[in-house]
Amino acid sequence: MANVVVVGAQWGDEGKGKIVDWLSERADVIARFQGGHNAGHTLVIGGEVYKLHALPSGVVRGGKLSVIGNGVVLDPWHLIQEIETIRAQGVEITPQTLMIAENTPLIMPFHGELDRAREGQNSVAKIGTTGRGIGPAYEDKVGRRVIRVADLADDATLELRVDRALVHHNALRAGLGLEAVNRDALLAELRRVAPEILAYAGPVWKVLNEQRKAGRRILFEGAQGALLDIDFGTYPYVTSSNTIAGQAATGTGIGPGSIDFVLGIVKAYTTRVGEGPFPTELDDADGQRLGERGHEFGTTTGRKRRCGWFDAVLVRQTCAVSGVSGIALTKLDVLDGFEELKICTGYDLDGEMLDYLPTAADLQARVTPVYETLPGWQASTAGARSWADLPAEAIKYVRRVEELIQCPVALLSTSPERDDTILVTDPFAD
Ligand code: IMP
Repeated sequence: MANVVVVGAQWGDEGKGKIVDWLSERADVIARFQGGHNAGHTLVIGGEVYKLHALPSGVVRGGKLSVIGNGVVLDPWHLIQEIETIRAQGVEITPQTLMIAENTPLIMPFHGELDRAREGQNSVAKIGTTGRGIGPAYEDKVGRRVIRVADLADDATLELRVDRALVHHNALRAGLGLEAVNRDALLAELRRVAPEILAYAGPVWKVLNEQRKAGRRILFEGAQGALLDIDFGTYPYVTSSNTIAGQAATGTGIGPGSIDFVLGIVKAYTTRVGEGPFPTELDDADGQRLGERGHEFGTTTGRKRRCGWFDAVLVRQTCAVSGVSGIALTKLDVLDGFEELKICTGYDLDGEMLDYLPTAADLQARVTPVYETLPGWQASTAGARSWADLPAEAIKYVRRVEELIQCPVALLSTSPERDDTILVTDPFAD
């Protein structure tokens, strides 16, 4: 049976939520493997809108197991709140339908405070984060002082873990002019949420391996996008986890050989939230139009997204790094009505042509995009369900994207509605 990893191939917000939902109908298990509630996945099912941040998209589909893997950083207070909100929309969430890896690091309130204090400090430190404490929690994981889900089960261990974290954090907080953390109040809060979180805790690595052996289909749901990857993204303007497909294995505890298909989600143009380089960014009426037509406002923070033309150089690079088998191209309809469309096919660096984005920050800031111009189309592509529904110029645009990124289109999404999807290759096919 095929197991599929879904990852963003740009700067996040490519429309993963809908595609994951579409695929999750045919999956048995849906697993998150990185990131946290910095993510925002909007699902529209039968007119009902679900906004998910920490929960895997599979929770809204009955009869599936949703999994939060160890690669995620989890804010227990946020999760409880999100479960309540989704339950209020009529979705059943029980320990039979949701499992959290026991080795998942927890985001503490002081992580969020640190994140926001740093962001507010000065422009040198600013990344444009979501302020959810994601970075500080990952720092503590690697620093071997994070509190993990399993630590909630034993009070003596929990106290020890809290003390270990606070030695570090209280020193940092003093330097930032923040009050020391109230240890007893934090412990009381952790004891309060512990039973609810522990009700879902389990050995995810074991369950996933058993499910795989039993022939069940597993869908690994990535958050953010490859250009926000901590190693391969536009560092330091990135998130703090590996967002590329390889992380599905280490972020849940399955072997890399268990991944059969990597689906890269690619928006038909480019957007990014927060600071950092963006070679094809448009500050003109075209950029404005993309933002308005594409409703480009962040699901998590409500921030306006920066918009620009499709950058084939970047997507070719991220498809390579993630080992993408096929892409899902989304939001093609946002391009409807443009006279002409531009695609970036290379970079000019002081007269030299580059076919990839260099790593050094000064070079990233200096590259200028080289564009190819394609004719636009006036007819609507919104809601198209077959190639025959698309204008010839739109098909030409899609084919040129495939050629330039050296990766085929497996799915084409033409509206937020799940059925408005053209299937070319089934990622779950054996
Ligand atoms: P953090 O993940 O909150 O640390 O933010 C780091 C960077 O990643 C910032 O530029 C955020 O805007 C960006 N980011 C984090 N999560 C998402 C997402 O789900 N979509 C798009 N950008 C994101």
